[in-house]
Amino acid sequence: MSENVIVRPESMERITTKALADAFIEEQVAAIRAQVGDKKVLLALSGGVDSSVVAALLIKAIGKQLVCVHVNHGLMRKGESEQVIEVFGKQLDANLIYIDATDRFLDKLVDVSDPEKKRKIIGNEFIEVFNEEALKLEGISFLAQGTIYPDILESDGVKAHHNVGGLPEDMKLELCEPVALLYKDEVRVVGSALGLPDEMVYRQPFPGPGLGVRCLGAITRDRLHALREADAILREEFDKAGLAGKVWQYFIAVPDVKSVGVRDSKRYEGWPAIIRAVNTTDAMSATIEEIPYALLHKITDRITHEVEGINRVLYDLTPKPIGTIEWE
Ligand code: XMP
Repeated sequence: MSENVIVRPESMERITTKALADAFIEEQVAAIRAQVGDKKVLLALSGGVDSSVVAALLIKAIGKQLVCVHVNHGLMRKGESEQVIEVFGKQLDANLIYIDATDRFLDKLVDVSDPEKKRKIIGNEFIEVFNEEALKLEGISFLAQGTIYPDILESDGVKAHHNVGGLPEDMKLELCEPVALLYKDEVRVVGSALGLPDEMVYRQPFPGPGLGVRCLGAITRDRLHALREADAILREEFDKAGLAGKVWQYFIAVPDVKSVGVRDSKRYEGWPAIIRAVNTTDAMSATIEEIPYALLHKITDRITHEVEGINRVLYDLTPKPIGTIEWE
């Protein structure tokens, strides 16, 4: 793969409106068709903003010549893989390969409590699963990636092969990176213009290792399930309260600690669900959202009554620094 230096021309206007996005889309559709011809393109579709927008652009340009592979590592938030299947598989009629690799990932993570080891296992396993699928496919000539301009700036102008590292060398795929000159806000405007749902386009940042870094310590299926359900309640309540578009990032972390509680007049041991809700511009520092107490009480009530295994809800008031945004 080449290591071209990509520089955004100073004359390039910031894409802020539907009209500018439409012009960009038209230009890119032509460029993609010219680059790809009648060849096939492979894309790892995580469901994140960047890969989703690249997928939608490529579907518009080359339809079924794009092969999207969505790997569900079992650490997605509630409903995310389902949404990828609904939007890309059904609504956009994409050539979508869905791989439920939950067991592979979770089996590898049994008893692994060190955060760095967990990240490494998840990252390596992702590459392995994706490569296995890629090798089954025939006639693929290009690899599409959701590289965006900040990725390039952070890697000193040299293309970062960060999204899918280590594809088999003998596949010799040429890169196709149609949003590589765009900033995140522009990618979102383009995504909306392509008709992607707001939930996808305005999705909050979500770490690649997913809920794996929020199910603290060694991941177990029951605690991961509790985390996913509690997180879904938090998101639903933030949505209803109008906080979804206002707070930069919010989620639940569940530590590997139990405390005693009471349920139905019986002793009930459970994990605490820790709410994190932060505001930031660049994720380098972050402040805490002042969630109204009434909402905190409602979320606590729902989580402790609806989620098996959770018996307390805590609110993390620690800004960054000194706390990082994630717990691991
Ligand atoms: P921290 O915890 O370092 O997080 O304050 C800063 C931002 O980065 C996200 N994050 C990750 N994103 N892979 C990612 O793609 C990761 O391993 C990862 N770890 C943290 C985090 O969610 C926050 O937005």
